[in-house]
Amino acid sequence: MGSVEDTDGAEEEKGGAAAHMLNTQQPVDIDSLPTISMEEVPKHKKREDCWTVVDGLVYDVTDYIPFHPGGKKILLGAGKESSEMFRK
Ligand code: HEM
Repeated sequence: MGSVEDTDGAEEEKGGAAAHMLNTQQPVDIDSLPTISMEEVPKHKKREDCWTVVDGLVYDVTDYIPFHPGGKKILLGAGKESSEMFRK
């Protein structure tokens, strides 16, 4: 596991849609990431703690918000599935 572990210690959860959390700038073995329940995602919809889900992967975008070329619109995907919005 090592560097690919999520930063806030979210536990692997049973049930719900399978998703993963990616918070690293290193190449990652996706299968080694923890499974995150979709029930966990809406708990992270704040600017200071912001996850979004694209194509089944959970991303912690908190530190990226200030750099997002689309500005604060990234917050439209905070704490939810945002594949459609992301692609538009
Ligand atoms: C997760 C990583 C993300 C990356 C790397 C990213 C990257 C970008 C880039 C490069 C643009 C500029 C596109 C252009 O000018 O042609 C952009 C624009 C935009 N992004 Fe993102 N984005 C991310 C997440 C999101 C999410 C999650 C949402 C919404 C839920 C979102 C909503 C938007 C919108 C609405 C724009 C257009 C803003 C405008 O034209 O006014 N982005 N994003």
